[in-house]
Amino acid sequence: MFSSLRQSTDIVEKLRKNAFEPAHSAYYRGKPGQSLSLILKARHDFLSIWRKNDYTDKVSSMTLLGRQLVIVNSPEAIRYVVAKRHENFERKSPQMRRALEFLLGDGLFISDGETWKQRRPLVNDIVHKNRLPTFGGIMERTASELAERWSSLPDGAPVNALYEMAGLTAEIISRSVFGNDLGEEAANAVTQGFESYQSLIDSINIGYFLGFDEGLPVLRTPKLRRSVSRIHGIIDKVVEDHLAGRGDDNSMVDLLVRRQKRNPELKLDVVALRNEAATIFMAGHETTAATLTWAWYLLSRAQWVEKSLHEEIDRVCGDRVPTLDDLPQLELCRAVIEETLRLYPPVPILARQTGEADRIGDIDVKPASLILIVPWLLHRTEAFFKDAHLFRPERFLNGERPIPYSYIPFASGPRVCPGLQFGLTEAILCLAILAQRFKLRVAEDAKVEPQCRLTLRPRGGLPVTLHRRKGS
Ligand code: HEM
Repeated sequence: MFSSLRQSTDIVEKLRKNAFEPAHSAYYRGKPGQSLSLILKARHDFLSIWRKNDYTDKVSSMTLLGRQLVIVNSPEAIRYVVAKRHENFERKSPQMRRALEFLLGDGLFISDGETWKQRRPLVNDIVHKNRLPTFGGIMERTASELAERWSSLPDGAPVNALYEMAGLTAEIISRSVFGNDLGEEAANAVTQGFESYQSLIDSINIGYFLGFDEGLPVLRTPKLRRSVSRIHGIIDKVVEDHLAGRGDDNSMVDLLVRRQKRNPELKLDVVALRNEAATIFMAGHETTAATLTWAWYLLSRAQWVEKSLHEEIDRVCGDRVPTLDDLPQLELCRAVIEETLRLYPPVPILARQTGEADRIGDIDVKPASLILIVPWLLHRTEAFFKDAHLFRPERFLNGERPIPYSYIPFASGPRVCPGLQFGLTEAILCLAILAQRFKLRVAEDAKVEPQCRLTLRPRGGLPVTLHRRKGS
């Protein structure tokens, strides 16, 4: 029998001996067809609007205020959308484009058409796995610095794991993108600027549902303008320094600038360079921070998994700090991260806007309609993952792999995350370096609630206490 750690009307979380069902939204029970209340609910929390039957292998369509929404939750149909008919569905949703355009301009994350085609190989190249030896060193150093800071705190010290992980991954991406010369103050200003920007933008573009195919621009309030101009100012300075030959070699900005010098036909001016640097910075840290935070939550509750994880790290690394070279042996660390990405995909919804009329499975799709691929649903579909709500890292051990297009935390097709290897490596390495020395504990009665904004994170962060492992 499961004992409910907590079961409110909204969130379910259950633990029994060697089985853990981590926090997830309860199935939605509202009546179909209540468009307005559904939009309002989605605006508060996009994960709470799914009925039990949405967690099955199918394509479905609904209309909200006259706008067609198609939910694509079968591997075959996902392949059709993201790969086979990529060009008809490559465009991000008006919500996403409008929310980020002020900050990222034509940055890769929200661009499409010719701009995307031209810039994608460039970004692919600078975050490519071949560059991991350079960036892996930054990951090792930064995670070790955090372990040192933690070890100066008293045993049992309270910290917020989300903020700790956000600081860690922001530092890693900042050193990787901008180089070491940015300075702590400017690095913090950029991170806080991104944080504040996100908190100020709405999670739904109401204009799109009121009939504007392109959505409506986000209201540029003085507060929003201030965060954006602060971020742009700092990044522009880094770019200009690099253009003038004063930047840190091997940073991603350096690679972008060198590429522009080699290929002037790319016409990457300061603004374009800034947009790509800002895009990589934004896309490259929140997601990994969320992954690590959820992993700490899962390990804190499923302590039998944590025990095996410690045994693996001790066996592979002994007393020395885990490095990039240990990764192939840290199989359980990898499986824990992969299972975390299944249960809590940092990008839980991939939204696209249809180009021309199309047909997905049995559903006729109208031009400009909204396509939602929801890794949150897909990854919890029983047909692909037995006992889908349970935390079971062994699904990813011994060569076991999910069926193609059923597991897409990094998306798939031509728009697959270019930072896949970077992000996976970073999450596994940081987990191993910190878990070698510390256990994080979430209070038994803590209310852990997934919240979907740009990324999926625990609402209010994850308060934990820090405990040294024996002998560390
Ligand atoms: C665990 C870590 C990460 C996860 C789960 C993740 C997930 C994703 C997903 C799902 C997308 C597609 C979004 C969509 O189609 O709407 C994406 C795109 C992207 N990601 Fe990541 N990401 C991670 C780490 C990174 C890192 C470390 C970088 C850079 C160093 C990065 C750079 C990007 C960029 C530039 C895009 C836009 C690609 C395009 O539109 O062509 N990501 N990521």
